[in-house]
Amino acid sequence: MRSLSLAIINGPNLNKLGKRESNHYGSFTYNELTDYCNQQAASLGIEIDIYQNDIEGELVQLIHELSEKVDGIILNAAAYTHTSVAIRDAVLTVNIPVVEVHISNPYAREEFRRKNLLSDIVIASISGFGITSYKLAIDGIFSILEDKNR
Ligand code: DQA
Repeated sequence: MRSLSLAIINGPNLNKLGKRESNHYGSFTYNELTDYCNQQAASLGIEIDIYQNDIEGELVQLIHELSEKVDGIILNAAAYTHTSVAIRDAVLTVNIPVVEVHISNPYAREEFRRKNLLSDIVIASISGFGITSYKLAIDGIFSILEDKNR
């Protein structure tokens, strides 16, 4: 049987982890985050590719392209979570599970972060666990996909 494949798509400023607002995002760097996700996926035998892009339209294209290639998508749309109808519409075109992830808990921050254009259209949302949010998202989407393949 072929192994499951996942894409993790990270939006704007997440490449600056380690240098930005450590009170919200902790001290780990973007490279440490990708190593952590790669290890977690390897421990489950999942293939993953991890992307980061600051540009809204390029994130839309990534969602379109990757949804034709992988079994599931983990999406941290970062600030676009709160503003992007285009990313919402891209997620609505996708026929595979999409899990939303955040490092911080946006609901415990500024008022404008409580507006979320993705949470009602994704299969699940995980936030507030720091880097562990990604591990929980990988574990969660893995069990959803395993269930689907039974
Ligand atoms: C974030 C939360 C967003 O509100 C913020 O704009 C980000 C990161 C998170 O992972 O906690 O850039 O998505």
